[in-house]
Amino acid sequence: MDDRNLALDLVRVTEAASIACARTMGQGAPERSDQHAVSAMRAAFEPIPIHGEVVIGEGERDEAPMLYIGEMVGRRQEGDPRMDIALDPLEGTSLCAHGRPGAISVIAMAPEGHLLNAPDIYMNKIACGPVGRGVINIDRSPTWNLERLAEAKGTKVSDLTAIILDRPRHDDLIEEVREAGARIKLISDGDVHAAIATADEDTGIDVLMGIGGAPEGVVSAAALRCVGGDMQGRLWAQDDAQEARARKVMGDDVDIDATLELQELAGEDLLFAATGVTDGELLDGVRYFADGCETHSIVMRSHSGTIRYIRAEHNFERKPHYTLEGLHKKMDDPKFDLER
Ligand code: FBP
Repeated sequence: MDDRNLALDLVRVTEAASIACARTMGQGAPERSDQHAVSAMRAAFEPIPIHGEVVIGEGERDEAPMLYIGEMVGRRQEGDPRMDIALDPLEGTSLCAHGRPGAISVIAMAPEGHLLNAPDIYMNKIACGPVGRGVINIDRSPTWNLERLAEAKGTKVSDLTAIILDRPRHDDLIEEVREAGARIKLISDGDVHAAIATADEDTGIDVLMGIGGAPEGVVSAAALRCVGGDMQGRLWAQDDAQEARARKVMGDDVDIDATLELQELAGEDLLFAATGVTDGELLDGVRYFADGCETHSIVMRSHSGTIRYIRAEHNFERKPHYTLEGLHKKMDDPKFDLER
C-alpha cells in the first residue's frame, strides 16, 4: 500500500486538534481543552481517504460522544483502505489546562489488526530509542535495564536519564533508579511524549520506565516502531473489574500478566503523527499570531523509517475552520453528520 500521502494527511488532523485546544492553555479547564481537541480532530478526519475505525480513542460509545472506540472516521468512499486508528486528541489534558510542557495531539494508524486493542487500564512500560533495541527487558529489574542500556550506549549508568511519571506508585522504582545512580526526570503527565523523546538523542532522555495508561502504551509503541526504538509492556489490572475489562476487549483467554513485545503492541505498516500543544522535549507548542499560527509536528512511517519534523504556518483567513468560530460553524453544518 502506498501510504505516503496518508501520513501527511494525518498530520493535518493532529495540527487541527492542537490548534483548537492550545487556545485553552493555562485556563485550568481540562474538559474544555479536551472538547476543543476532540471536535477539531473529528472534523479534520472527514476528508481523509480511508475507512478508519477507532480502536483506541476517547472511551466506550456510551461515555464519549465523538471518537469513541468503534467509531468510523474518514471519507469512506469505495476504494479507500480500511485502517485501524489509535488516537489521543489531547494527550496530557492537564498539561494543557495548566500550561505545562509536553501536551501533544497524536494519531497512530495501521492496516486492520495491527494495533493492539488495549483496555482502558494501566500498563507497566519500558521504552527506549534505537540503541537500546533488543537490550531492555521488563521482566528484569530497573537496575539491570539501566546497566544494559549504559553498556549498549557505551556510557555509564550515571550518564543516563530515566523519565518517570511522578506518582506514588513509582516510589520504589524512583528509589531504585536513584540507587543505581541514573538521573531522573519526573513528569506530571504525558508518557507518550516521554516515550518518543527517548528515541531522539537531542532530548537527553534515555529510557521511560513505569506505569501509565495502556492505550497510551499502544500509541507510544507505534511511534517507537517507526523510529526503530524498543518498548515492552505488561497490563496492570488493579482489581477484578479491570481484569474483566481487559478480557472483554482482548478475549477471555488473554494472559493479563504476559509481557507484551513491541510488535504485539503495534504491528506493521504504521503511520504516526503528533503535533505539539504546549512546548515539550521533542515538539514546540502552538504559537498564535494576528492572522494565523505556527505548529510543530513529527510524522513517521514504519515502512520507510522516515522521520519528518514539520513546522507549519497556518493562515486563518484562508483556513477559517482552524479558528474556534470556524470549527463551530462546521460542526453545526448538517453535512457534518457524526452518525454517518
Ligand atoms: P490524559 O491526557 O488522558 O489525561 O492522560 C495523561 C497521562 O499522563 C498519560 O500520559 C499517562 O499514560 C496517564 O495519564 C497516567 O495516568 P494517571 O494520571 O492515572 O497516573
